[in-house]
Amino acid sequence: MPDTLTKMAYQAFQDGKNYFGLGHKAIATQLRQWLRPDIKIELESINPNFLQEISRRRDALLEVDWKDAEAGIYSKSLLFDNPWADFFQYYPAIWLDLPAIWERVGTNDVYSFDEDINTSIFPRYYLRNFHHQTNGYLSDLSANLYDTQVELLFGGTADAMRRRILAPLQQALQVKQVVANTIQQAPSEPVEPLKVLDVACGTARTLKMLREVFPEVSLFGIDLSPAYLRKANQLLAETPGTLPQLVQGKAEDMPYRENYFDALTCVFLFHELPAPVRQQVIDEAYRVTKPGGTFIICDSIQMVDTPELEPMMVNFPALFHEPYYRDYTYDDLSDRLAKAGFVEIETEVHFVSKYWVARKPA
Ligand SMILES: C[S@@+](CC[C@H](N)C(=O)[O-])C[C@H]1O[C@@H](n2cnc3c(N)ncnc32)[C@H](O)[C@@H]1O
Repeated sequence: MPDTLTKMAYQAFQDGKNYFGLGHKAIATQLRQWLRPDIKIELESINPNFLQEISRRRDALLEVDWKDAEAGIYSKSLLFDNPWADFFQYYPAIWLDLPAIWERVGTNDVYSFDEDINTSIFPRYYLRNFHHQTNGYLSDLSANLYDTQVELLFGGTADAMRRRILAPLQQALQVKQVVANTIQQAPSEPVEPLKVLDVACGTARTLKMLREVFPEVSLFGIDLSPAYLRKANQLLAETPGTLPQLVQGKAEDMPYRENYFDALTCVFLFHELPAPVRQQVIDEAYRVTKPGGTFIICDSIQMVDTPELEPMMVNFPALFHEPYYRDYTYDDLSDRLAKAGFVEIETEVHFVSKYWVARKPA
């Protein structure tokens, strides 16, 4: 397909997802107001300038996403990758789950887990119904609904935001590969493959794209949720490629030896951690990163960069249970990265996400 047509198809695809997400949210809100008028959620008002700004930022994200694909950092087919099977199979379940969610919102119950879920092995801060999800991160249904819910929340831009980690990662791995080739003892000696860990990999949307873009790299994923890891394994097994090594464990206490990975990525985790745990995860990331390796974080925007989007940062935790989000929006992760020992810390903001790229000194 000629480039202009592919670009138009990409824009139409994204617009379709955006309108679907807006329609979904509007109908769900209306239904809640009719069926549960007792639930009162106080929200900051949104004005037309704010909506214009959101739309401008979304267009800018899609433009830079397209440019990176055009530049060959990733293939254009990645722009159209979408969890369709999940969407068709589980979209009705999102509606069916709403009454249970409203009931918990109405009673302010954010610690609700089915009795057959063994909660004793998880840290206390994790035992919450994040986003008001039924059983938090601890059921197969939650794992099955997660990707579609995130797509609805972000109007179909979740993967476009995740893809912003690919260019800095490619750059970091190129540097590591040059160093590996230089220190190779003899031409016959095999060069060890580079290793990348995705911290809090969830259902593996990031690992899936990493495998497509870096097929030679050994990939690893760690997450606390057994159900999300099962889902990750299922998603990764659907398409050809080596299966990344998935491990159930805490990001703040990882079962890897020090100086092990050439790079680490971490998408949408930090806003779900209490402040002290954020520092522990960063310290742990530093420990397992090889000297000269890179740590890339993608998470929510923060107040310091985008005060004009304050209504969104205030309304998000009011609508979706996010107990650590407000504190996160004021947290200086660059300072935390520097405290751990990382250097050359750079940040970027795209749409409603912020990125940190940090290097462990060689
Ligand atoms: C918002 S989801 C993000 C998942 C995925 N990275 C993505 O891009 O969709 C947060 C994930 O972090 C995991 N998580 C939360 N706290 C964790 C911790 N301390 N250690 C490891 N995983 C954790 C959850 O189980 C969940 O899968």
